[in-house]
Amino acid sequence: MSDYYDRNPILCREVFYGEGYSSVGGEEVSKILAGFLRKKSDLSILDVGSGPGGFAFFIARTLEANVIGIDISENMVTLAQERLACSDVAQKVKFQLSNVETVEFPAECFDAVFWRSSLLHIPIRRKEGVLRRMMKWLKPGGQFISMDLCSTNDVEDGQGFQQYLDYLHAECLDVESYEKLLKKVGLKEIFVKEDNNAYMRKTAEEIADADRRRSDILKLVSEETYQSTLQYWFDKRKWIEARAISHVYFVAHK
Ligand SMILES: C[S@@+](CC[C@H](N)C(=O)[O-])C[C@H]1O[C@@H](n2cnc3c(N)ncnc32)[C@H](O)[C@@H]1O
Repeated sequence: MSDYYDRNPILCREVFYGEGYSSVGGEEVSKILAGFLRKKSDLSILDVGSGPGGFAFFIARTLEANVIGIDISENMVTLAQERLACSDVAQKVKFQLSNVETVEFPAECFDAVFWRSSLLHIPIRRKEGVLRRMMKWLKPGGQFISMDLCSTNDVEDGQGFQQYLDYLHAECLDVESYEKLLKKVGLKEIFVKEDNNAYMRKTAEEIADADRRRSDILKLVSEETYQSTLQYWFDKRKWIEARAISHVYFVAHK
């Protein structure tokens, strides 16, 4: 099977989720995430795990914001930079190849740090350290905003989920531990929203759309890549239905 970070699977996910996206919901989720921002202008934003860049482009286009997207995957950053070079927001967005666990930023330089399907990629034992680093970069009152998959303790119902996490190089927390961790690093007024109904609706739309456009998609990616991407979609829906995983937004501030 091809690797999650190869260029073809990235392009394949974009065909399903929308250009610039490597996670469910495409622009619809961008609107939800941006809606959590308390400040709407003169923003300095960090997008952790910016992937092919869709969310950073969205923020820069819809808000008065400068956005830095960091990602550990060279293929992701290269694709985002290619798009940026011929975009209308080249002055407002920057993509850099960096690991959030080691990258340096000045203290108190961001109004908000977004984690769109990216905190799950940090091993559990290192999540606290990475959030403590982020706390230094946030301005006082600056926001932490994430969208993540959380696991429940019910692994029985999530058959195949561990294999999926291995494929993603990811480790999930349950909702309660996630919230506790945010509190522990000093984040305040933690808002938690499990949004599994929207997730199920959106993935059903994305699957139907992929089915309609199957022949076009197969001009871009191999049948194997198409099928394995689709399979993980079906699996995630199955795990959500079995309540083995949950699709969750977390919002808090420093
Ligand atoms: C599921 S993708 C989501 C991409 C994008 N946020 C989106 O929603 O389309 C997760 C991204 O996090 C990136 N990532 C994983 N570990 C990282 C790390 N330690 N530092 C920076 N980025 C990381 C991956 O390379 C990947 O692009």
